[in-house]
Amino acid sequence: MGEAMNVLAVNSSPRAGGRSKTELMLEQLVAGMREAGASVECVALREKTVRPCVACLTCWTRTPGVCAHKDDMAGELLGKWAAADLVVYATPLYHYMMNGAMKTFIERTLPGVDPSWQVTDRGTTHPIRRPAPAGVVLSVAAFPEPAIFGALSNYVRYLASVGFMRRLVAEIYRPAAEAMVAPVFSDKCRDILAATKQAGREIVETGGVAEGTMGRIVQPIADPEVLAAGANAMWKRAIAKGLRLGDPPEEK
Ligand SMILES: Cc1cc2nc3c(=O)[nH]c(=O)nc-3n(C[C@H](O)[C@H](O)[C@H](O)COP(=O)(O)O)c2cc1C
Repeated sequence: MGEAMNVLAVNSSPRAGGRSKTELMLEQLVAGMREAGASVECVALREKTVRPCVACLTCWTRTPGVCAHKDDMAGELLGKWAAADLVVYATPLYHYMMNGAMKTFIERTLPGVDPSWQVTDRGTTHPIRRPAPAGVVLSVAAFPEPAIFGALSNYVRYLASVGFMRRLVAEIYRPAAEAMVAPVFSDKCRDILAATKQAGREIVETGGVAEGTMGRIVQPIADPEVLAAGANAMWKRAIAKGLRLGDPPEEK
C-alpha cells in the first residue's frame, strides 16, 4: 500500500463554536478525505498568529527560504504547508474574495518562492523553490448567486497557473451558506453536506470532484427574492436585539 495522502486543511474563518459555515463545510470535506484514507491536519488561523508580510525580503537574501517573523507561520505552518501533498484553502467570502486572514497566509508563503524572474509563455513569474502542494479551494458566502465567487475563482486559477499550486484539484463554492442551515431547508442542507463529504472522498480517490457531486453542493436552495425576504426579517430582529453573530473582538 502507498503512503496516505498528507493534507493540510487551513480554515480562515474568524468564527468558531458551530457558527462558521466554512467550518461546517470543511468538517464534511475532511471527514470524506479521512474515510478515503488521507491523513488530514486541520488548522484554524484564528487560533494562530500569522503576521502580515513586511516585505523585508530577507527570506530571499540574508536567509533564503526563512522568514524574519517569529510567529506561528514561520515556526510551524510554513513547514506544514510545504510538506503537504494537498492544501485545502477554506475561507469565507469577504467582499467577493478570500478573507484577509487567508490572503495573509498565502503572502507568508513567499519564502517558498525563488527571487529570480523567469519569462514563460504565461508571462513573467518567480520560480517556486520546490513544487508547491496541490490545492483545493473551499468558500462559502451569504448571497445566493454562484457568480459571487467569480473573482476568487479567477484569482486561484491564476495562482495555480504560475505554480503556487502544483494542481488546482477542486473549487468548492457554496452560496447562500447562511440560509442553508435554516430548519426550513434542512433536507437540502443535509444533501449539500453529504455531497461535500462525498467530494472529500472523491478528491482522495480520483483526484477531482464528479459533476453530479458538485451539482449537489451548489444546488440552489430557494429563489433569491425568498432568501432576501428571510434575510431582511432576520436583520430586523438582529438589529432590534443588538445580536452578536460571531465572537466579539478580544480586548487588548
Ligand atoms: C467583512 C465581511 C464581508 C462579506 N462579504 C460578502 C460578500 O462579498 N458576498 C457574500 O455573499 N457574503 C459576504 N459576507 C458574508 C459571509 O461570506 C458569510 O456570512 C459566510 O457564511 C461567513 O462564513 P463563516 O460563517 O465561516 O465565517 C461577508 C461577511 C463579512 C463579515
